[in-house]
Amino acid sequence: MSGFHIQNNALYIDNVALSDIAAEYGTPSYVYSAQEITNQYDRLANAMKKALPADRQPLLCYACKANSNVAVLAHLRSLGSGLEIVSEGELHRGIKAGFDPQKIVSTGVGKQASEIAECLKAGIHQFNVESLPELEHIQEIASGMDKVATVVFRLNPNVTGGGHHKISTGRKRDKFGLNRRSIFKGFEMAKDMSHVNAIGLSIHIGSQVFTVEAFKQAFEKMPEIVQDLRAEGYTIDRLDIGGGFPIIYSDEDLLDLDAYAQWVNDIIVPLDTKIIMEPGRYLVGNAGVVLSKVLYVKDTQDQRFLVLDAAMNDLIRPTLYDAYHGISPVQNIDATKVLYDVVGPICETGDTFSVDRSLPIMNAGDLAVIQSAGAYGFCMASNYNTRPMPPEIFVKGDNVSVIRPRQTYNDIIDIEKIPDWIGQKG
Ligand SMILES: Cc1ncc(COP(=O)(O)O)c(C=O)c1O
Repeated sequence: MSGFHIQNNALYIDNVALSDIAAEYGTPSYVYSAQEITNQYDRLANAMKKALPADRQPLLCYACKANSNVAVLAHLRSLGSGLEIVSEGELHRGIKAGFDPQKIVSTGVGKQASEIAECLKAGIHQFNVESLPELEHIQEIASGMDKVATVVFRLNPNVTGGGHHKISTGRKRDKFGLNRRSIFKGFEMAKDMSHVNAIGLSIHIGSQVFTVEAFKQAFEKMPEIVQDLRAEGYTIDRLDIGGGFPIIYSDEDLLDLDAYAQWVNDIIVPLDTKIIMEPGRYLVGNAGVVLSKVLYVKDTQDQRFLVLDAAMNDLIRPTLYDAYHGISPVQNIDATKVLYDVVGPICETGDTFSVDRSLPIMNAGDLAVIQSAGAYGFCMASNYNTRPMPPEIFVKGDNVSVIRPRQTYNDIIDIEKIPDWIGQKG
């Protein structure tokens, strides 16, 4: 059996009991299933294979902001994935993980000079441009390096998508993309630029987008603008249709991937361009858990708290986005259920993973997992409260590999310096 499953009333990842991983590597820890990532990649690729002609298959560029550990990246690279990056750091990760730079696309509203230069040096596939000053900046840097930057312009379609207002990115008041008028202006400016080659458009309306209709609404903005740009003599060879595919955290109805693929076939394919997609969460979200231990069971008159050793610094989604995550014991999964507020040790009420959650009875020392933590989990972790960041552990079959060790207190504290000008007294 592969992925997360229950065997003898205990939770396993592939062939390995999560309790064995906790015994060996401690808690809290992030644990990822390579097989689950493969399954999701295949699901998405197969949906596109089914709906789109063989010669029009998209380049899937994994949005590595979701989970940027180099081992996860290398695994996705081995499946055939390209990469979407939003920073110089993510470029360096992509190179270390062995991606062909011609499969890397750079996005984001605030690309910095060194980031643009490093991307040009590496020879990435394209820059998804989000503003006209950014276009001028790219031209300036590319001309200084005597390189030609391939760019596409990100369209802001004024469509609401995304499972939470903080991750909805396609409304006209959002900071992302350009409106139609600015895109025409961008193409006009690029025509006179010596080191920029503008050849397409991109779009990304948000993350955890549940309705196919939101994608459809956004895609439907494409044909008209593509035709109008072509009528002005501009080349449109590439359409990057972004990411945003949702995963199940609770009991949501999952987006109908086949219907999505059909819209891509019906609306985007006839435009006769190369197609790029940027899936993040969908590929890795359900493939990871936070493995944690119950420190205390605290009963008050009104509440029963399960105090875990994992906290909001390890997984910030519940407090940042009010996100729901499944929680389960690792052993004795069949025990009688009671209501718990599941919390971490940090000195904020927001350090709460769930309220009034019905869970099998647990005691201090028992292990629990917070599910669906493979995306926007570890990569958003911090050292708040001087808590070391947890290790990341990758499992495939019987293989268990630490792909990032637990931070030590020295890792956190040794880089800080006390200036000479602070007095000795006290
Ligand atoms: C430009 C862009 N592409 C792709 C993604 C990935 O989104 P998701 O993880 O929902 O697929 C994001 C996420 O914020 C993004 O900003």
